Amino acid sequence: MVTSSAPGKVYLFGEHAVVYGEPAVPCAIERRARVTAEKRDAGLVVHAEDLQLDGFTVEYIDEGTDHPDVDAENSLLEAAMGYVNEAVKQVREAADAPQAGFEIWIESDIPLGAGLGSSAAVACAAIDAGCRELGVALAPEEIADRAYRVEAAVQDGEASRADTFCSAMGGAVRVEGDDCSRVEGVGNLPFVIGYDGGAGDTGELVAGVRALRAEYEFAADTVEAIGDVVREGESVLGTEDTETLGELMDFNHGLLAALGVSSRSLDTMVWAARDAGAIGAKLTGAGGGGCIVALDDTDAALTALRYTPGCDEAFRATLDTEGVRAE
Ligand code: MEV
Repeated sequence: MVTSSAPGKVYLFGEHAVVYGEPAVPCAIERRARVTAEKRDAGLVVHAEDLQLDGFTVEYIDEGTDHPDVDAENSLLEAAMGYVNEAVKQVREAADAPQAGFEIWIESDIPLGAGLGSSAAVACAAIDAGCRELGVALAPEEIADRAYRVEAAVQDGEASRADTFCSAMGGAVRVEGDDCSRVEGVGNLPFVIGYDGGAGDTGELVAGVRALRAEYEFAADTVEAIGDVVREGESVLGTEDTETLGELMDFNHGLLAALGVSSRSLDTMVWAARDAGAIGAKLTGAGGGGCIVALDDTDAALTALRYTPGCDEAFRATLDTEGVRAE
């Protein structure tokens, strides 16, 4: 029996636009998904706890049971189980063990579908744990690539490499199409996260942006403008100029809102953080609900978010320089 973990992430810049080849800069944060894998003769049994902050338990057996018996939103759960199934396929392929069976335990302190990269973290940790349990050690780059294939399969081909590369490698990363690298020299940014307790459907949100982009040239221009914001942001990343970084995060949020992926609660949390003096604030991840990320080196935004109606939880997040690892 072996356990691996991988971090969640926030997007400093570039979600959605990265799906169309623009650059993005996600940053791994010190909140992890942990996956334990144990070989069994055949099939797959999954035990999952704490996939939302409130936590729930699911027992899923892929031998004839279609729906796990659990009190949680079904689409979320099916998506989560889809990631695990696809991750196990990747393990079987990587270890050249097509019949390998597994019992898997998932524990996560990253809320599901909330923009903090829970699915990428679960996919990376599951691939690492499953492979190590079969005696195969993969390089983090290969785990990133296989976890990307997991996301692409679950999201009908609509995924970038950003979430999975970030979770596998840790730290701040830059992704532009297939070109993925770590961004060195990024110190600890004062991230504050606000979580509305909800979630967005990544596949649906990505499809919505795709439809807008196909219908309106100005929506395609908006996607390109996000790319420009990212390029500008990269030029100040790692410098003392957090003011410009914050201003660009605000800009990025406005462009994402124009593409229809913000929500009332995300906007409310963004404004609560800004009104409290945050250097910048934006939604993170696919949007629709879930989390915002603000930059603030005082306690003001954190306190304001805790008193903001619609904000379920607010917490600080620290850059995690480590990616997927054995526990
Ligand atoms: C989701 O965390 C980020 C998106 O850009 C989708 C992706 O990059 O695969 C919305």
